[in-house]
Amino acid sequence: MYKSVTLSIVTAMTLLTTVAIADASSDTDKKAKPATEGMLLPYMSPSKGRKLFASKGCVVCHSVNGIGGEDAPALDAKTMSPIMDPFDFAAKMWRGAGTMITMQEDELGEQIDFTGEELANIIAFVHSTSEQKKFTKADIPPRIAKLMGHLDDESDEHEKEEHDQ
Ligand code: HEC
Repeated sequence: MYKSVTLSIVTAMTLLTTVAIADASSDTDKKAKPATEGMLLPYMSPSKGRKLFASKGCVVCHSVNGIGGEDAPALDAKTMSPIMDPFDFAAKMWRGAGTMITMQEDELGEQIDFTGEELANIIAFVHSTSEQKKFTKADIPPRIAKLMGHLDDESDEHEKEEHDQ
């Protein structure tokens, strides 16, 4: 009787230990999956993206927080799918590419160029509600602001003329 109680305690302890080990090992199994062969996914930085969205000139046509041009769809995070594959964003850009490039050549004088990492950061910014809250006119470099002012002048020319009289 005494023996069997001891035995069951030992059995129970062994079982508990086994469960604990199993749990621990399942946790360490959760390693980040590498991208497919030969592929390295960049770290996506919403704060770098905030600066790039303005300095690359996306802001000339697209707005965030109501800051930016109105010639193209606004890119506020709250209007995006909550969880999005960044490649789907690139695919959306690709679909709009024809119109976008023609307009860029017209309004910026050239097609916007960026590296993959820069685009990854811009995509991160476009999907980050918290980072977008920090987006202000102060993020827009003078060169781009000037361009936007110039474009505003063109479209508001009529309004201004009336105002000046
Ligand atoms: C000169 C104006 C202009 C600039 C600069 C510009 N875009 Fe666009 N973009 C457009 C227009 C216009 C469309 C809509 C095209 C269409 O509907 O065919 C568009 C479409 C898009 C779309 C698809 C939106 C949707 O809802 O389907 C994305 C995403 C996008 N642009 C991202 C960017 C990013 C990121 C940048 C900066 C690197 C940028 N654009 C710079 C004019 C511009």
